[in-house]
Amino acid sequence: MSDKPEKLITDDGLRLDGRRADEIRPMKIEIGVLSRADGSCYLEWGKNKILVGVFGPREAHPRRSQRSDTAVIRYRYNMASFSVEDRARPGPSRRSIEISKVSREAFEPVIMTELFPKTAIDIFVEVLQADAGTRTAAINASSIALADAGIPMKGLITSCAFGKVDGQIVLDLNKEEDNYGEADFPVAMTQDGDITLLQMDGHLTPEEIRKGLELVKKGCKEILEIQRTVLRKKFETPIVEPEEET
Ligand code: CDP
Repeated sequence: MSDKPEKLITDDGLRLDGRRADEIRPMKIEIGVLSRADGSCYLEWGKNKILVGVFGPREAHPRRSQRSDTAVIRYRYNMASFSVEDRARPGPSRRSIEISKVSREAFEPVIMTELFPKTAIDIFVEVLQADAGTRTAAINASSIALADAGIPMKGLITSCAFGKVDGQIVLDLNKEEDNYGEADFPVAMTQDGDITLLQMDGHLTPEEIRKGLELVKKGCKEILEIQRTVLRKKFETPIVEPEEET
């Protein structure tokens, strides 16, 4: 790993990648990239590269995992061994199990599971390249893949983190900021702004959390617009005006 830079934020308020405190990294989304999945998404956010496949609703196996009144959501977050600087050990880890659990819970309030009893909805996340913020990137990609699969949802979920770097509250930490910053605070929310995931690593005052949540709301609004644009492009049928009779 590189040494800690002297400053993560310059005197003119710019971060090492040129962003201001309230800016998210550039995001690129491709929808429907896996032909065997019911829904899929490839997302790049800064240097993060994430692939998500959604399968279902389909009969849940093993049978004892079925619920008679609702679908079960299964979310598996996995890091490719080549996705990080030091090789990630294959297979589940405490970290990936935790991320899978909180990410599944982030979707539970919006997926209309009551419509599909006895089934499972599987969300498989593969992190191909990691640069901090992979859980938030994966949630944004999963939201698109679920919509691509046509799974009824009350709305999209968007996700973004804020953190504290050189004593300042900033949006969407990159790897250097995550490594050498003082706090990291990932959040996911519904399109109405209801929070469905909230975690904190580090120390923050209540005032810093309030400020950070304002930044996150702004970031999530921008992400929601990107998600909506991609979905509109795929699903909106253009209105063809009838030709005027002459
Ligand atoms: O990725 P996210 O910020 O959601 O989770 P994290 O546990 O805070 O990890 C931050 C970053 O550390 C990841 O995005 C990776 O870039 C890196 N990391 C790593 O290099 N090796 C691991 N085994 C796990 C994470």
